[in-house]
Amino acid sequence: MEQRERSKSKGRKKKSKKQKEEQKEEQKSIQEEQSQEKHQEEEDEMDGPLPVENLVEKGIGQADIKKLKDAGFNTVESILFTPLKNLISIKGLSENKIEKIMTACQSLRECGFQNAFQYFQKRKEIVFIRTGSKNLDELLGGGMESGSITELFGEFRTGKTQLCSTLCVTSQLAVEDGGGQGMVMYIDTEGTFRPERVADIAKAYEMDEQQVLNNIAYARAYTTDQQNTLLRQAAALMIENKFSCLIVDSATALYRTDYSGRGELSSRQMHLAKFLRMLQRIADEFGVAVVITNQVVANVDGASMFGGDNKKPIGGHIMAHACQTRLYLRKGRAEQRICKIYDSPSLPEGEATFAITEDGIKDPE
Ligand SMILES: Nc1ncnc2c1ncn2[C@@H]1O[C@H](COP(=O)(O)OP(=O)(O)OP(=O)(O)O)[C@@H](O)[C@H]1O
Ligand SMILES: [Mg+2]
Repeated sequence: MEQRERSKSKGRKKKSKKQKEEQKEEQKSIQEEQSQEKHQEEEDEMDGPLPVENLVEKGIGQADIKKLKDAGFNTVESILFTPLKNLISIKGLSENKIEKIMTACQSLRECGFQNAFQYFQKRKEIVFIRTGSKNLDELLGGGMESGSITELFGEFRTGKTQLCSTLCVTSQLAVEDGGGQGMVMYIDTEGTFRPERVADIAKAYEMDEQQVLNNIAYARAYTTDQQNTLLRQAAALMIENKFSCLIVDSATALYRTDYSGRGELSSRQMHLAKFLRMLQRIADEFGVAVVITNQVVANVDGASMFGGDNKKPIGGHIMAHACQTRLYLRKGRAEQRICKIYDSPSLPEGEATFAITEDGIKDPE
């Protein structure tokens, strides 16, 4: 009897030892999980753009950081993506200082060769924002590509602004619903943005109209210089909030009024090039889908690019090189419009028909 008691208590002891081991095991796995989460958080942080304030840890002084911010450089990426000759013109920063800043930026953000597979993996993070028309999405490989510039050009009433208004809504949808899950920035140079239209489209998507409008940062530009200033502010706003789409409707209209005649052509092109470079920087830095609109002019050279349709987009080579995807919109029957891929790094040539409806861009009935 005594023996049994003893063996029982021995059993208890054994059990408690086992329990302790289990507890230890459990604690260990919790710790591992926590450290994995922390690591993930750190990795996530690495993915976003890095504010210039981080240069302090690499020995750059607050005063110099302020100079960078005053010149519109709010992130380490914005500095890395700018040619040295442009950085040197920043007020108050010597060439030596710029070199020091550049080295600091490079040490914070790796920028060199990567293998194509890494690049391929990175490109998988790209999202496509749907346009409202399945035909159009199919043509575009899913919709408007994030991290790149898409140009919509065409005559008046071809649906450029209507497509932009629809994107104001679809950009805010969750990624799994074909959206970009972020806010929208809208630069309006023609005064044709209508919040009522966006509200109607939001309703059609069963989204809260007020919330959709609250998530759109809207600005009107009256001159090409204002257009550039707005982009600088845009970059600052994008650090604070997650944006998925930046729209400029239209990117070129003000250039036609600010610069007239052949004599001003080269200064106009230089200014436009600067604007487009800033757009590209924002697309690279923040991974937003940049969508710009453009008008057409009659092609006086007579060389027809579209089989009988002798229109060409404004902006010449500067525009052609800056936009990754160029889409030509033209009228079809009644509310129908036709979109043709004019230039793309990865999409085959093709056309799609869509319709402008009360509920935004849709497929034709
Ligand atoms: N609420 C609506 N319901 C249906 N169609 C509409 C609605 N609002 C506008 N439209 C149509 O959209 C077309 C105008 O398209 P949009 O304003 O996008 O042209 P655009 O290409 O931006 O032209 P522009 O070069 O003049 O800026 C018109 O044909 C108009 O009938
Ligand atoms: Mg328009």
